[in-house]
Amino acid sequence: MIRIGALVSGGGTNLQAIIDSINEGRIDGKIVTAVSNKPGAYALERAAKYGIEGRVIKVKDYPDRKAYSEALIEHFKEKRVDLILLAGFMVILDPVFTEAFPNKIMNIHPALIPSFCGEGFYGLHVHEAALEKGVKVTGATVHFVDGKADNGPIILQKAVEVRDDDTAEILQRRVMEEAEWKIFPEAVALFAEGHLKVEGNKVIRAGGE
Ligand code: GAR
Repeated sequence: MIRIGALVSGGGTNLQAIIDSINEGRIDGKIVTAVSNKPGAYALERAAKYGIEGRVIKVKDYPDRKAYSEALIEHFKEKRVDLILLAGFMVILDPVFTEAFPNKIMNIHPALIPSFCGEGFYGLHVHEAALEKGVKVTGATVHFVDGKADNGPIILQKAVEVRDDDTAEILQRRVMEEAEWKIFPEAVALFAEGHLKVEGNKVIRAGGE
């Protein structure tokens, strides 16, 4: 069983999808800590409901991003996590964080990377940009996190149709329901079973334990 740490900023529907998959026996893991950069994040309430310890660690309590990232490293090391999930986490961390946990941090991004990603592309903005561009297909991506925003080896992707009358909110909901809440738990399950092997920029599905 793997020990999972989560970083959250908002509603926490992706965290909920992971919790549900664990409870249904589809992920051989346990969430040992959920950390939010925002005190009021509903994700922390979701965590508390399932007896998961929540913690608020605010960016503004540290002199810079590096010091903030170091505080997070210390917390996750103390909790002895095997995997860290960026489950709707809206802060870009310093490279010291990814260097401390190579191929052990997963992010869910609400688009098909390399489209609509990088700095400034988060949450609803991603879907606004997709509608503005007029794409007919969008989707979601789960990837390992490296030193750059929305970069790193891709684990799973799933495409979602864009409809003519979509608003950003409607599209966001469809991408969550049809893609994010499926591929994020699936990627975590594959990791927990030892099926993910990183070769250069690619993730290969390996045999497992
Ligand atoms: C999700 O759509 C997630 O993919 C996105 O924010 C939303 C968080 O929702 N993440 C990013 O944009 C990160 N760059 P949630 O809090 O309900 O999981």
